[in-house]
Amino acid sequence: MKKKETLYLSASEENLHFAARLIQKGGTVIFPTETVYGLGADALNPDATAKIFTAKGRPSDNPLIVHIADTDALKPLVKEVPEVAEKLIQAFWPGPLTLIFQKSDLVPKTVTGGLDTVAVRMPNQPVARRFLEIAKIPVAAPSANLSGKPSPTDFEHCKDDMTGRVDAIIDGGRCQVGVESTVLDISTETPVLYRPGGITLEQIEALIGPVKLVTEAKEGESPKSPGLKYKHYAPNAEVQILRGSMEEVQAYIKKMAESYHTAVLTFDEFPQFPKETITYSLGSKNKPEDAANRLFAAFRELDAQNVAYIFAPEIPESGFWHAVRNRMYRAAGNNVIDLSKEKKEILFLCSGNTCRSPMAEGILNNIAKEEELSVCAVSAGLFAVSSVPSEFAILAMHEIGIDITAHRAQQLTAEIASKADRILTMTKSHAQMVELYFPQYKDKVCTLSEWAEEDADVPDPYGGSIEKYRSCRDEIKRLITKGRSIHL
Ligand code: TXA
Ligand code: MG
Repeated sequence: MKKKETLYLSASEENLHFAARLIQKGGTVIFPTETVYGLGADALNPDATAKIFTAKGRPSDNPLIVHIADTDALKPLVKEVPEVAEKLIQAFWPGPLTLIFQKSDLVPKTVTGGLDTVAVRMPNQPVARRFLEIAKIPVAAPSANLSGKPSPTDFEHCKDDMTGRVDAIIDGGRCQVGVESTVLDISTETPVLYRPGGITLEQIEALIGPVKLVTEAKEGESPKSPGLKYKHYAPNAEVQILRGSMEEVQAYIKKMAESYHTAVLTFDEFPQFPKETITYSLGSKNKPEDAANRLFAAFRELDAQNVAYIFAPEIPESGFWHAVRNRMYRAAGNNVIDLSKEKKEILFLCSGNTCRSPMAEGILNNIAKEEELSVCAVSAGLFAVSSVPSEFAILAMHEIGIDITAHRAQQLTAEIASKADRILTMTKSHAQMVELYFPQYKDKVCTLSEWAEEDADVPDPYGGSIEKYRSCRDEIKRLITKGRSIHL
């Protein structure tokens, strides 16, 4: 596009009058709102709104939100204002809630991307309100970023993206909310939430009852809200959401930071990360408002530092966190690395959990460690009381370099059974007993022999000589080694 001269304006009354005249005459003006900065043009002037798409480099079938100063300005834009809308407007306007209505003939299709519906919102930010009040026209405005960049939450971001592409940018400082408005379609029988934002699903449902949630476009489907179909902003770096314990997360980041230029989005309460990685705090983990406010600025800054990976924590799904989580998952392209689930848990089971099953646990964990298998062995007994392993079991294991002295016998419970991916018993009658007590887990139970595609039970060495323990240990080891080559 041909370069324009872009004026930078402070938010003085005089400048707002000047900017209002610019927009009335068909110009483009970037103005602050409480969510993100908007790139505005006269919503009823098709030539003016066309400039928005050119300035952003945005596909013209993606509809724009129309911004108004007061409720009187709504009626001319829509066919009707349904009762639910009245309630929502009463409760949440001005504020970060965009409502989708059946449009009136006044609204050009250039604004709605060809749709028969129109998105309207009344922002709650003093500069935005005053600007719209003076302009006296509905202002169509998408977020004021170049297509493919995060929404701008500060004057500097707008200058970076839009200098030379718009007529003026009004400086309103940092946006308070920091993520775009909630988008709710009330033109349908059941309202549909397309984009979570500053007004939460819970707040809306408390007021008007059940709302359908459609925030992801399914492949091959043409989404009702066109914004869903466009690839959303993803930093140049690969964003990975890490799921797992803090230790697992720390170990993973440390390893990655040895080979790559990495950054971590953290919370103040989190422990320190390795100094080789850049850390960017999203604030307190109890304050979604802080995280929302900082997220887009974080992406812009880390992109400027050219990191290869950005690691992000898992974000809750409820309340205002939902909006943060949605932006984070989009930036990550839904890439969640489950660090804990990578390990398969195998539960060995015998009678007292003092001889056979602790030996099996020790043997498999030792193989897993030596061969770096993603497997973790545990053990339990069908009739166990908390006690140390039998002396000869400790000795027999010690002879092959495995220490099981720290083991304590434990009784099988539903919780232990539920966590295991596989339950391997020493005898057929053990397996039958598990199936009897916990029929819900019967598909993951078999004997150790069956797992190794054999048939014989592993006999109990309890009360026998050390010789008996040694041959029991060797038999268990043979079966595990064979089973491992088949299954792990
Ligand atoms: O917070 C905000 O909403 C900011 C500020 C500037 O107000 N604006 C903003 O606009 O985020 P934009 O264009 O980046 O996002 C508008 C979203 C898109 O996902 C679009 O598809 C959806 O609203 N939308 C607009 N009109 C629609 C309609 N008639 N039906 C369905 N979805 C619509
Ligand atoms: Mg946008």
